[in-house]
Amino acid sequence: MGKERPLLAFILLLYSCRVASTTSNGFFYQDILNGNGNGEIYFNGVKLRIEAQPPSAFTMSGGNVTLPCRFWYEPPLSSPRRVRVKWAWLPVSGDSESDVLVAIGHRHRSFGSFKDRVYLQQGVPGDISLVITNVSLNDSGQYRCEVIDGLEDESAAVDLEIRGVVFPYQPHHGRYHMTFQAARRACEEQDAALATFEQLYKAWQEGLDWCNAGWLADGTVQYPITQPRSPCGGLGLAPGLRSYGARHKLMHRYDVFCFSSSIRGRVYYLQHPRKLNFTEAVQACIMDGAQIAKVGHLFAAWKFQGLDRCNAGWLADRSLRYPISDPRPNCGPQEPGVRSFGFPAPHHKYGVYCYSSR
Ligand SMILES: *[C@@H]1O[C@H](CO)[C@@H](O)[C@H](O)[C@H]1NC(C)=O
Ligand SMILES: *[C@@H]1O[C@H](CO)[C@@H](O)[C@H](O)[C@H]1NC(C)=O
Ligand SMILES: *[C@@H]1O[C@H](CO)[C@@H](O)[C@H](O)[C@H]1NC(C)=O
Ligand SMILES: *[C@@H]1O[C@H](CO)[C@@H](O)[C@H](O)[C@H]1NC(C)=O
Repeated sequence: MGKERPLLAFILLLYSCRVASTTSNGFFYQDILNGNGNGEIYFNGVKLRIEAQPPSAFTMSGGNVTLPCRFWYEPPLSSPRRVRVKWAWLPVSGDSESDVLVAIGHRHRSFGSFKDRVYLQQGVPGDISLVITNVSLNDSGQYRCEVIDGLEDESAAVDLEIRGVVFPYQPHHGRYHMTFQAARRACEEQDAALATFEQLYKAWQEGLDWCNAGWLADGTVQYPITQPRSPCGGLGLAPGLRSYGARHKLMHRYDVFCFSSSIRGRVYYLQHPRKLNFTEAVQACIMDGAQIAKVGHLFAAWKFQGLDRCNAGWLADRSLRYPISDPRPNCGPQEPGVRSFGFPAPHHKYGVYCYSSR
């Protein structure tokens, strides 16, 4: 039985290293094995466990999403214990973590942009999944559920991804005209948000190739290249995201990459007996019970509803575009995409794309 000696010595060592031994809620609590990195706490042999499965979730802007999380005790407790539950959020833009919701028993409070938009699912005991309603474009990031029981707490993480489409954007006054703030505003005006690095990277993986540098949400300036060529970083460089790094947000000017997503609304090419100048186009959509579509609306409808129309139409920023899902002769390049014709003079006559939120 010589084998038992090292184990016994190990236990004695742990015992002598014990930091605290206290009474909490009439419960004898030993902090013997805390800090072993396994996310386990021992209450006289009762362990608090927490799990977020699956550890990622996705939705689109305007949708609802449930971020899974549950906790339990091993072995199970004979009577439920009062715990404090907290959800926090770490945005992808690299800002610091902020509180989303705190709950004790049936009372809960939500914070910041999540106010009145989140609640705990509480389907079964231990279910502390977070429901977020009317998800917004900038809700993506890492969420952390945390259970605080007496002196100790355990947490687990869930990633939320907003499914959407990235598009390069250049305003009517031309290339490289926007500071960081102007770029953010330009995206918001198109019913979109500044794209994150992750979103641009994913778009590049799916084939986005664009040779003008644009701002991203983290304040860096980059552009995606799938076909290396000389004006775009050169032939010698492998395909990838070309980065200028972080630029000065007030002094430097570039284009922008915007991110759009929506499960609500409908974009359509207005059936109208004649072509329209820009002011007439705006009016015609209003007469149809809708509004002239924004660039973000058109990209989202092209990407997620397969909008396909070989007629150029006005959009709200006075640009002229059309969406092609099924490439064919006389409708632009061989790849699907939203074709852009820049910003014609507003008295020129074309069709129009309208957006209805219903
Ligand atoms: C989201 O949930 C709310 C209630 O919590 C419901 O009224 C709404 O219809 C849901 N939205 C969608 C898109 O399912
Ligand atoms: C959802 O949020 C947007 C802003 O992000 C707001 O304009 C809209 O009214 C909200 N919709 C509902 C149903 O709460
Ligand atoms: C997120 O977007 C909403 C509009 O969709 C806006 O009201 C809110 O302020 C934004 N939050 C942050 C942190 O940018
Ligand atoms: C568009 O045409 C209308 C007349 O139908 C005219 O009043 C308006 O000024 C024109 N707008 C532009 C931008 O040319």
